[in-house]
Parts: sequence; structure tokens; C-alpha cells
Amino acid sequence: MKFPNDFLFGAASAAYQIEGAYNKDGKGISNWDVFSKMPGKTFEATNGDVAIDHYHRYKEDIKLMAEMGLESYRFSISWCRIFPNGQGEVNQAGIKFYNNIIDECLKYGIVPFVTLYHWDLPEALELYGGWINKNTIDAFTAYAEICFKAFGDRVKHWITFNETVVFTKLGYIQGAHPPAIENDQKKYFQAIHNVLVAHAKSVEIYKELKQYGEIGITNVFTPAFSIDDNLDNIDAANHANNYELYLFYDPVLKGEYPEYVSNQLKERGVFPETTEEEMDILKRNCEKNDFIGLNYYQPMRVARNFDVDSKEKASATGAAGGAYFDGYFKTVVLLDKKYTKWGWEISAEAFVEGTKMLKERYGDIKLYVTENGLGDIDPIVGEEIMDTARTEFIEEHLKACKEAIRQGINIKGYYAWSVIDLLSWLNGYKKQYGFIYVDHDNNLARKKKYSFNWYKGVIENRGENL
Ligand code: BG6
Repeated sequence: MKFPNDFLFGAASAAYQIEGAYNKDGKGISNWDVFSKMPGKTFEATNGDVAIDHYHRYKEDIKLMAEMGLESYRFSISWCRIFPNGQGEVNQAGIKFYNNIIDECLKYGIVPFVTLYHWDLPEALELYGGWINKNTIDAFTAYAEICFKAFGDRVKHWITFNETVVFTKLGYIQGAHPPAIENDQKKYFQAIHNVLVAHAKSVEIYKELKQYGEIGITNVFTPAFSIDDNLDNIDAANHANNYELYLFYDPVLKGEYPEYVSNQLKERGVFPETTEEEMDILKRNCEKNDFIGLNYYQPMRVARNFDVDSKEKASATGAAGGAYFDGYFKTVVLLDKKYTKWGWEISAEAFVEGTKMLKERYGDIKLYVTENGLGDIDPIVGEEIMDTARTEFIEEHLKACKEAIRQGINIKGYYAWSVIDLLSWLNGYKKQYGFIYVDHDNNLARKKKYSFNWYKGVIENRGENL
């Protein structure tokens, strides 16, 4: 089977992880510019000041994407390039930079797929409480509107937020992302609510502008499965799916919180402050979403956790194992599964099973795989970067997409993470994901990896030979 002609083969990146030029041409400072410079926060104190200098090399990078045959490129806009203070004055140099990126893509027929928020919040807003402060909702929607108006004539695919569960949980529970707060459930659930309202309001604004493109939200997709048939463990998987999936999709697609979660949060006194108007915004816009994006890396294998005093907490870098923050379940490393060097399970089958769960709950909503890839330390053989483990990984997952489509799941595109080796938030440059290698010892020179030509071939024959 070939992938249908309207299926987009793409690859992805995010502004902070590639652009650099962190203080150039009027860009404001982001929360990551500040956080990454706090001692001990990132791997080997890496930061995005230069990253891979895509800001100055975007022409070379997009030319390589075109050479690879990429049909679509997913990238994010850095909010503080557009609004250095998060709100107020627009920085025209920021608009110009993204106009250049978009035009460069279109020059080669590459469809731009734009994420508005991939975690780099203007520090000016973080200082006033960031996602806890409801003013950030209005600041975000004003930023979204400016982007729709500036770029919407050429950009027809919009993602509001990337992985709400990740930046809020690491920000307010695990303390591993800004604002580096630990175990504050009240703030965690409040931040989630505020993000979801900002999303729904942006969808409303986008549809009012009648630009005839599509808009949705991306979440990390970690479907949970019980490790066995034990009823307690099945209950644990249900709990995990409610807190990690449905909490993030129900308000978007059904306009309400899953009862299972909201009842428990109310009992624990950590249900967010919501207004009638906000709940109405969620409700009246939920049917306007055109798609949801799935960043799929791994599933969760879960068991009920009865050892509530256990100190073994879930890792901030995503490795399987450890107790969930509310203590209810733990994720388990299974001997019969494969794992990456960073302890992430490799399972294409779980992706298919997971999408079926989504279909059961949300019907035929269009899906894009907005990220999927293998983080590895790529072997260098002679002069070549032989990332065959990556091509095997992507092949398995593209086959899983085919299988899901065969079973009636509405998947319309696949974006490999990442188009080029880039800065990992917590793993520096050591964990590679790209089709293009960046030589940090040689002036950030770009080099095609084995996977580059492999993916080009896959795109050329629309996946027929997989
Ligand atoms: C996703 C993010 O969660 O995972 C990306 O959207 C990130 O920005 C990717 O780089 C891989 O994460 P890591 O920790 O392996 O670099």
C-alpha cells in the first residue's frame, strides 16, 4: 500500500531547539533563556543562545529539507520574537524572520505546519505567574491573532500548543522545566486549564478570520496499558489514561473535563479556578477543532502502586519506571520489551492500539503524527553517520500508521522528530534525532546522515516499499 496522496510526509523542529540568536533583532528573553542558565538545570549547562544557529542558516537548512523531498515542515514560532514582552508592541523583525522561513519553504513547495507555542514563554509573562496568571490567556490569544493575520495567507495548518502535559507537569510538579516548581498540584491543574482556554479562544479567533485552513492542538501521546489482567492494574491504566490523555483531549474535543478526573480534583481541593465564561469558551469551540496532533514516542505499561511511601518517582526525562506524582500507579519496565538508550520503550504496536482508544472516545477526528522518532547516539562509520537504528524505528512506525489507516483511523500526516539534530531540552546535543547531522566541532557544519537518503526514498515511493 502507498500512503494516500493527501498524506503529508514531514519532519519537525521547535524554535528554541534550533534558532539560537536568542537576543538578536529585538527578540525578547524567554523563560528558557533564563532557566537554562540556572546552575544544574540542563545537561552540561547547554542553552539555546546559539543552538544550531538556524536563525542565520535557515536557507541552507530548508534547501536540505527540499533535497530530502520533505512535503511539509513543522516548526514553531518563538512568541518573544513577535512580542518581546509577551504582549504590547509587535517586533517587526520577528514577523520578517518567520515570513522568510515560510516563503523559503513555499519556494520549494514545502507545506509549513506551524506551532504557536513550543514551550518558550516570554520571560516578561513568566515573571507575573506565567500560565497561572489568567492574563497569559489573553496575551496568548493576541499573539495567536497577530500570527494568523501576518502568516495566515500562506500558513494553512496551525497547532496552538505543543504537549501541554509535558510543560505543565515538568514546570509545576517535577520542577525540571521553568518555572521549576515542585509538587504544586493546584498550580499544575490551573496552568492546564488556562492553556486549554487559551487554545479554545485561539480556535474561535482563527475560525472567525475565515482563512480556510486548519487548526488543532498537539499532545504527547502515551497511551497506558495494564501490565496484566489483574483488576487493580487495569484500574491503574484507566487512571493513567484519564490523567495523561483524556484530561488533555476531552476539554478540547468535548468541551468538558473528564468526570473521573474532575471529581477527584474537587475532592482533593485542587480543581482549577474556572469561570462560567471559560467553560462556555471550551464548550462552544470544541467542535471547531480540525485535528489533533500526536507526538508519539512510547506507551506506558502500568501497575497499581500500593507502596505510597515509595521514593521512586517518575523520571523527568521520560524513562519508564517510577511512581506517578499522585502515587496511584507506577510505570513498569518489562523484560520482553525493547527500550532506547534513554529508557523509552519502542513499540509501534502500542501506537495502533492507542489510536483505536482515541477513535472509540472521540470518533473520526483527523490525526497527524506531529512527532515520532528515535533519540540515539548515532554511530559514525568512517565518514558516514550510520543511523540505521533510526530508519528501523521510523519504518516500524510508518508501518504502524499504515496499519492504523487500514483499520479506519484517520491519519493524514507523519512528522519525524526531528528534521535535523537539535538541542534537547534536558539532554543537550548528545541525544540525536535528526536526518541531518550538525558538527559542533566544525562550525556547526551540516551533513546528511544515512537516514536522509532513506527517508527521501520513502517519500518518493509514498511508503510503498516499507
Ligand atoms: C517532545 C518535544 O516531547 O520530545 C520535543 O516536543 C523534544 O521538543 C522531544 O525534543 C524529544 O525529547 P528529548 O527529551 O528526548 O529531547
